[in-house]
Amino acid sequence: MLLHGTDALKKAAASGHALPGFVAYNLETVQGITAAAEAAGRPVVIQAGSSPFKHAGREALMRLALDAAARSTAPVGVHLDHSRDLDEITACLEAGYTSVMVDGSHLAFAENIALTQEAVRRARGHGAWVEAELGALPGDEDVSTDAAAQAAAMTDPRQAAAFVSATGVDALAVAVGNVHGFTRHPVRLDLERLAAIHEAVPVPLVLHGASGLPVDELHGALARGVAKVNVNAELRRACLEATRLALPSALPGSDVVSLWAAGRDAVRDAALDVISRLSPHADGGNA
Ligand code: 13P
Repeated sequence: MLLHGTDALKKAAASGHALPGFVAYNLETVQGITAAAEAAGRPVVIQAGSSPFKHAGREALMRLALDAAARSTAPVGVHLDHSRDLDEITACLEAGYTSVMVDGSHLAFAENIALTQEAVRRARGHGAWVEAELGALPGDEDVSTDAAAQAAAMTDPRQAAAFVSATGVDALAVAVGNVHGFTRHPVRLDLERLAAIHEAVPVPLVLHGASGLPVDELHGALARGVAKVNVNAELRRACLEATRLALPSALPGSDVVSLWAAGRDAVRDAALDVISRLSPHADGGNA
């Protein structure tokens, strides 16, 4: 069933849990993610676009993700990740996405506010919630670059408060030392800064770049207002490793379906693994 509204997000923030936002590129990743939600009996968010549209095509991926979410027995949100394009945001809202992320983090503060205000205005008519970003994360959303650098521009708590009040966003993605993709050295978050942002800002926070994040750092973030955690690289790595292992037995009969199935099942297992970490008690996801 489609996960509408911000209740799940707010509940996650209040209970120290978080919703996972998993990036999907195609049929197999969408199926793997929904299978994980069903196996765990937990809500998830499929992040279908923006950059995955380059691979799958916008219409195709939108329809695929929305259909899978609506048919799932688990609550599944469909989210547009990292979009700078208001036309793209409108297209996803009109298709029925349950949330969108408008990413003006590359812009000057006032321009980020203006872009985000417009996205919020468009989303309200469709009943979708809006995530925005303040601060900049190193690394790439689609290819792990082994980024070791700390965020060039971490989120400032006072600016964050002004930003949320000026824009009316429902969730705020923050830069507190988090990095997209895998890193050479374990990431340490600036948890003091995160606590100050949480104190200053009345909406749930979002942590991008959670792949490979040490579990104590993750749980530190969950205790400080983070209610959605984005993961992509862990699913991609699991998918590639499983297809590599499946390739020798698939090759003689050109059994491409067994290869895709191995990738899909690996995405499911990797997503389940993430879900089990998204509890402050690391209890396997059932608390
Ligand atoms: P990773 O790159 O760490 O998997 O994070 C994904 C992400 O933040 C997508 O928005």
